[in-house]
Amino acid sequence: MSRAPLLEVKNLVTTFATDDGTVHAVDGVSLQIYPEETVGIVGESGCGKSVTAESILRLFDETTTRYDGEIRFAGQDLLQLSEEKMRAVRGNDISIIFQDPMSSLNPVYTIGDQIMEAITLHQQVSSRQARDRAVELLRLTGISDPEKRLRTYPHELSGGMRQRVMIALALSCEPQLLIADEPTTALDVTIQARSWS
Ligand SMILES: Nc1ncnc2c1ncn2[C@@H]1O[C@H](COP(=O)(O)OP(=O)(O)O)[C@@H](O)[C@H]1O
Ligand SMILES: [Mg+2]
Repeated sequence: MSRAPLLEVKNLVTTFATDDGTVHAVDGVSLQIYPEETVGIVGESGCGKSVTAESILRLFDETTTRYDGEIRFAGQDLLQLSEEKMRAVRGNDISIIFQDPMSSLNPVYTIGDQIMEAITLHQQVSSRQARDRAVELLRLTGISDPEKRLRTYPHELSGGMRQRVMIALALSCEPQLLIADEPTTALDVTIQARSWS
């Protein structure tokens, strides 16, 4: 492919300082992802897939985590960005769907409030438009009766349904790159939603 990669990871090393010493969780990972491309990372449990994914967004506590190498996204090295600039990348350019949907859903707010908040954070829309968009995103991930679901809380939904809500949330900012960390049962709808975005 002749175009420039959207994401280029070069020799990524992620190490954690722990009470038991230094953990080399990722040790020299390189990969490229081009626009419109889907890339899968395969490996045994504990080999560093999740740490690679979360390092791309610099989600670890940087007082105990050290990153080396380069993570080039849209021409800039994410490892060199300030925390403030990194926050903008997380919210607008790159989204992540975690394996455990409960870790990203707030138990005290309805599904609708959480998706609508994500939408209004990134787009200048009225609350009516945000609501319509939330309904559309839920419908897109295969949730039936989305209007009704907007009024439910995370604990009222099944695991598969929560994963769909997570995908809707991850897509709400229309990211250029979507990272999915083993969203197992919902993987097929991730792909459907991705081709739509
Ligand atoms: N926050 C952390 N602190 C210390 N070690 C960690 C941390 N997160 C993950 N690890 C270790 O890093 C290695 C890679 O983990 P992970 O990326 O979660 O593997 P997987 O490929 O199964 O997703 C494992 O040995 C894990 O124990
Ligand atoms: Mg993992």
